[in-house]
Amino acid sequence: PTFPPAETMPILFTKDQIAERTKAIGAQITADYAGQSIVLIGVLKGAAIFLADLARAINVDNTFDFVAVSSYGRARVSSGAVKLIKDIDNPIEGKHVIIVEDILDTGLTLSYLRGLMLQHKPASLKIATCLDKPERRLVPIEADYVAFKIPNQFVIGYGMDFAERYRGVDDIRLFPEEAAGH
Ligand code: PRP
Ligand code: MN
Ligand code: MG
Repeated sequence: PTFPPAETMPILFTKDQIAERTKAIGAQITADYAGQSIVLIGVLKGAAIFLADLARAINVDNTFDFVAVSSYGRARVSSGAVKLIKDIDNPIEGKHVIIVEDILDTGLTLSYLRGLMLQHKPASLKIATCLDKPERRLVPIEADYVAFKIPNQFVIGYGMDFAERYRGVDDIRLFPEEAAGH
């Protein structure tokens, strides 16, 4: 594949817009969980950057954990099977948990993780995502905290990749169709 420079791609959301929405969600979470402890569970690798910023916008006691799931061929597999590659390190039974994602797309990843985490009997379970593509949903699931809803466009940056590239781009940009090699 080719990896055109991110600077050539149209900006969908600037780093300032992302920061503003992330701070607003952090303030909302701070209000919703006042006086409580929360566990933020990031979904590797895409959620790493949003989690890092969101955590710094939250003013309640919190810890981090991370999960990793398989993604190979997911969009082409009719079963929509998702497999756990890395589980949480610490028990979440009785804890207030927020799963943190960069993007909610078909919903297969988050509905799988949601089911899995509920088996651990958390006190509560919510989902925070930077982006939501509701048009693409294959299974019914909604996030509790959403920074931006977007149409069905391929985006990179702020943790999101094309062939593992562009995760460190600090704006969210539209990836050109022609470079995706469809
Ligand atoms: C992407 C994204 C979400 C998931 C959303 O991860 O980061 O985790 O897909 O898609 P879905 O709603 O259709 O399940 P990906 O599998 O590309 O792994 P990555 O985070 O390591 O890039
Ligand atoms: Mn991901
Ligand atoms: Mg990816």
